[in-house]
Amino acid sequence: MAFDTKLKQWTSLGLGTVLMTGALAAAAWLLLLKPHGEGALERSDKVLIVRGSEVAGYSGALGRMGFDAAEGTLPHWTDKTLAELPDFEGSAVQGVVAPANLKNLEGLIRQRVIAILDKLPRDEPFNWVDLVSRDLTTQMLATLFDFPFEDRHKLTYWSDVATAIPGAGLIDSYEEGFEILKECLAYFSRLWQERARREPGNDLISMLAHGEATRNMPPREFLGNLILLIVGGNDTTRNSISGGVLALNEHPQEYQKLRDNPALIPSMVSEIIRWQTPLAYMRRTAKVDTELGGKTIRAGDKVLMWYASANRDADAIDNPDAFIIDRPRARQHLSFGFGIHRCMGNRLAEMQLRILWEEISQRFDKVEVVGEPTRIYSSFVKGYTDLPVIIRSSAVKGQ
Ligand code: HEM
Repeated sequence: MAFDTKLKQWTSLGLGTVLMTGALAAAAWLLLLKPHGEGALERSDKVLIVRGSEVAGYSGALGRMGFDAAEGTLPHWTDKTLAELPDFEGSAVQGVVAPANLKNLEGLIRQRVIAILDKLPRDEPFNWVDLVSRDLTTQMLATLFDFPFEDRHKLTYWSDVATAIPGAGLIDSYEEGFEILKECLAYFSRLWQERARREPGNDLISMLAHGEATRNMPPREFLGNLILLIVGGNDTTRNSISGGVLALNEHPQEYQKLRDNPALIPSMVSEIIRWQTPLAYMRRTAKVDTELGGKTIRAGDKVLMWYASANRDADAIDNPDAFIIDRPRARQHLSFGFGIHRCMGNRLAEMQLRILWEEISQRFDKVEVVGEPTRIYSSFVKGYTDLPVIIRSSAVKGQ
């Protein structure tokens, strides 16, 4: 299969922007993952098609975005992530997003979802990203960190700055972004010190400040991980929330299936996360010279693992470009990554989306998209800044 053909096919998935923004130039190898494929490995120059499991021996420690982690930059701070700390297994932080604990959060999330949905405008267009996706995920993050609620919009802002591409509207240079993130670090350092002095609490900062495996983390590592949590928990879920509305509008027969059978929501949530693939890729660095897909990859070479490709792999997923809410084995996608760095918040994200769709389904027959979405200018984050929708009174249940 020619790379060129794939390239065209994937322009809408963000590969076009990778080339535009130069992320490919920084990464030596682009890996197009096949989650289950057993077939021959294919390759073209520096593009390899491999199975996800083959990248397991590569390190995420030297930066996981497409560009280099230069000294003093944000990605450099995350040079050791939580999952790589000794004794991390079963530690406090993993506990907070573990299924048992999520049950405790369910009621609160539902309350917040209901409050957001009940005040949405009727019969006039509004931006779903701002009023629902952004608001809900910001509130959720503030809850997880026990972050001062009145300042919660700072979390979204810092998250956006952390992944922003200079010149695309939010920041003009990486230096400017770095300066802004210093405020974030100062704010969190204050919270950390306060929580470390207090009795252990149930929020993430307190758990990190008191946890056996995390309390002696050097400040730089601690702060880098906080940013990872902010970004990880924020725009990914936000863009899945927006992506779901868009996908259902683009596939009306699937929207009808949902109306006919809301019990499909859990499987639909997985399908939304696959279809959207909110993070297009993650990066690893080869620790030693190694062979991959018939090519020698030298120690220090960087590879991008293209999840967006894995999730549209026709050898592994039937009709992969289609959005099918009752797809068999819907959870078998790679949007959460795999291996040691696999997403820690996957269950939480799924739960937020499930509750949101349960509450939407009870209230509205349709959230109708009334204009083109505006996509985020990024090769890394696949998402939206605007999604114009309308909720017509005629679509409100019980009216
Ligand atoms: C649909 C929503 C989400 C998606 C698609 C997503 C996706 C990802 C991906 C692709 C990774 C990197 C995996 C790798 O490098 O191999 C990751 C890591 C991570 N995610 Fe998520 N994520 C989501 C929601 C969340 C939420 C809600 C949280 C928590 C509040 C969270 C916390 C994290 C953390 C802490 C990591 C780093 C794990 C590590 O490096 O050890 N994520 N996520």
